Amino acid sequence: MENKEIELEFSIKSGAPEKQRTACVVVGVFDGRKLSSPAVDIDRASDGYLSEILRGGDMDGKAGATLLLHRVPNVLAERVLLIGLGKEREFHEKAYRDAIATAAKTLRDTGSMEAVVTLSEIPVRKRDVAWNVKQAVIAAHDALYRFERMKSKPQEARRPLKRITFAVSRRGERKAGETGLTQGLAIAHGIKLAKDLGNTPSNVCTPDYLANEAKQLAQTYGFGCEVLDQAACEKLGMGAFLSVGKGSDKPPRFIVLTHEGGDKGDKPVVLVGKAITFDAGGISLKPPADMDEMNYDMSGGGAVLGAFRALGELKLPLNVVGLIPSCENLPDAHANKPGDIVTSMSGQTIEILNTDAEGRLILCDALTYAERFDPDAVIDLATLTGACVIALGAHPSALFANHDPLAREIEHAADAAWDRVWRMPLWDDYQEQLKSSIADMANIGGRPAGSITAACFLSRFAKKYHWAHLDIAGTAYKGGREKGSTGRPVSLLVHFLLDRAQE
Ligand code: BES
Ligand code: MN
Ligand code: ZN
Repeated sequence: MENKEIELEFSIKSGAPEKQRTACVVVGVFDGRKLSSPAVDIDRASDGYLSEILRGGDMDGKAGATLLLHRVPNVLAERVLLIGLGKEREFHEKAYRDAIATAAKTLRDTGSMEAVVTLSEIPVRKRDVAWNVKQAVIAAHDALYRFERMKSKPQEARRPLKRITFAVSRRGERKAGETGLTQGLAIAHGIKLAKDLGNTPSNVCTPDYLANEAKQLAQTYGFGCEVLDQAACEKLGMGAFLSVGKGSDKPPRFIVLTHEGGDKGDKPVVLVGKAITFDAGGISLKPPADMDEMNYDMSGGGAVLGAFRALGELKLPLNVVGLIPSCENLPDAHANKPGDIVTSMSGQTIEILNTDAEGRLILCDALTYAERFDPDAVIDLATLTGACVIALGAHPSALFANHDPLAREIEHAADAAWDRVWRMPLWDDYQEQLKSSIADMANIGGRPAGSITAACFLSRFAKKYHWAHLDIAGTAYKGGREKGSTGRPVSLLVHFLLDRAQE
């Protein structure tokens, strides 16, 4: 995808905030007008100018509050921007990221072209300097993201923000800061790619479009890339995957990306992403309300591409495979019909009781295909069930796994990334709901525990390796007025791979 936007630059610096020659220096104030330590430095240098202003009631330090000051005495920066941090005791991950986001947006909206942001110096419980800087880069990128490709006139900032420098408190922290910066940038770029792909409407973002995007990534970063077309998938016996795309005139694509950064013998991690470029439900047509959001049904595949972008940038010494089954689920004379029975690549037969439960049909063949890589672990990502959104809402992705150590590894990465997951049960008791009297299984398990029975369905195709499934239906995008992709769970995936690379 063409990128005409000016890339925002980030850097790291240590040094006294009052001595920064910059358009704007950003400092934090806690609720109750308590100054963060860089704000104290500025206050001292300016003989109590900040405290005086705060006493006057111009700003209280509540989360989200901002105040822009000009010509603060004895401060070299042209302006000082105060950011409210909320209560000091409650200054955890979310408050930290929110403060960075507020700072980035305020800088953009007030026309600063560059700034030194000292919020990255404020300690967050249990987190280190590298974490602070990494999350600052990710949060700033996220806050400034705009998708303007489909607007006839892009909304141009008067004087665009070009450079943010994050401060670290001591010289000795610069190295950790640089590590955070490098990782944060790679993750931010991966998130941006996933967002762009998710936000691109389905008349543009087709299976073939995603395949071309994968090929481009492969060229840039030296990945292997193979795109299987309809005929190739037929040869492999992918009867479940191919059945879903039959109602569409957009040909299906099965995308295979390989990054060989590890030793030859190292078993790879396989990432599998659901990429339904539009999910109308098929003959079991969805109701009209919110159907416009179903272009986001390729978010799992988009996250795999985003993770690969970061993987390429960081050149991680790991073997990683990406599998992206992609097609469109539409009603048509050729479409799947309720009651149809298909044979999956594994040989197991499936009675399609609802054509809208299509994600599991494309994933099951991808999971079988994954066997040929003799994987160390397989993680699939899918906007799989509305039931998941009912169960957990928009905060965590649902995590299912057939191997506890893998689940714990993912939970750890999710916490480090602040891209959270919540583990759900995958008990055999639920498998009964998938019984069919005609075929080996049905593709739906009734209303109770819908996200669990979907995971149980997938587990039948993932018996030969350690496997985890992330249902990202609630986390991959926002609906309604704030409609847009979140780029989740790219950060989680990259953290998972970083952890493995450091082993
Ligand atoms: N892509 C949807 C799941 C979905 C729904 C994601 C709402 C995000 C928001 C999936 O293909 C689907 O339609 N699932 C059905 C399954 C049901 C028929 C068993 C669902 O959740 O309604
Ligand atoms: Mn569906
Ligand atoms: Zn779907």
